[in-house]
Amino acid sequence: MSELAGRVALVTGGARGLGAAAAKALAADGAKVVVSDVADGSAIAAEIDGAFVQHDVTSEEQWIAAVAFVKERFGGLDILVNNAGIFWMKPIAMETLESFRRMQQVNVEGVFLGLKHAIPAIAERGDKWDGGGAIINLSSVAGIIGSPMMLAYNASKGAVRLMTKAAALECARGGMKVRVNSVHPGIINTPMMSNAAEAIAGASGVNDTMERFASFHPMGHLGRDIDIANAVAFLASSKAAFMTGSEMVVDGGMTAA
Ligand SMILES: NC(=O)c1ccc[n+]([C@@H]2O[C@H](COP(=O)([O-])OP(=O)(O)OC[C@H]3O[C@@H](n4cnc5c(N)ncnc54)[C@H](O)[C@@H]3O)[C@@H](O)[C@H]2O)c1
Repeated sequence: MSELAGRVALVTGGARGLGAAAAKALAADGAKVVVSDVADGSAIAAEIDGAFVQHDVTSEEQWIAAVAFVKERFGGLDILVNNAGIFWMKPIAMETLESFRRMQQVNVEGVFLGLKHAIPAIAERGDKWDGGGAIINLSSVAGIIGSPMMLAYNASKGAVRLMTKAAALECARGGMKVRVNSVHPGIINTPMMSNAAEAIAGASGVNDTMERFASFHPMGHLGRDIDIANAVAFLASSKAAFMTGSEMVVDGGMTAA
């Protein structure tokens, strides 16, 4: 219950979906949480007695402002959840250079900027916590295995997986008390996935996409947002004090096969 008491977290893309669930889980474990998003996340922030800051993860200026906001509001930063992300499915022939770059801009550059600007802030008081402060990057099963029509997303989530390891090593070897780990969800029922299913239905008339998505998991069903939020809260805590550079797969067995 109070595993994260005294710690302060920033969750990007926290207005809905996995970010909102992670923000709630961290708050339930005692952290003070700042929700950031391009969309309005003030309702989630109010629910958990936290704070909301408007923040586009592709903007370096807005990253600097968001980290400064967290420090000013709650006295420091101990946990960053790099969660904001975008997704679509397209055959390679339909992906444009512009759309490919946009996917990398949000999913890869957004995480890079988060690492760059949050690591120094988290390191400032990493000594306070057993295992130090923590960054959790939302990658995906798509960061481990490829899929047709997911070239741009695969590229972005594969990059997040290895940026996590590079940052983890740099922090550990550099004596900075910041652990960096990635989480790799299977398919979770969030607006991201219901919107994708709707887009597929609109383009092809196929209406059973969520059922097909569920069937990809040996456990036979989609994941729940709380399944991912629990992994995030664990990695943020001192229970994961010896974990850095690791990839936590939460996918109902999808990538075990
Ligand atoms: N849902 C899944 O099945 C699944 C699986 C694997 C990985 N993921 C990853 O988990 C993360 C969250 O996914 P979700 O399903 O909750 O998505 P979602 O689309 O439901 O929510 C994403 C949130 O990110 C915000 N966002 C988008 N672009 C942003 C930007 N430039 N700056 C700040 N915020 C921005 C959106 O406004 C939204 O609130 C993403 O990184 C996604 O790739 C999701």
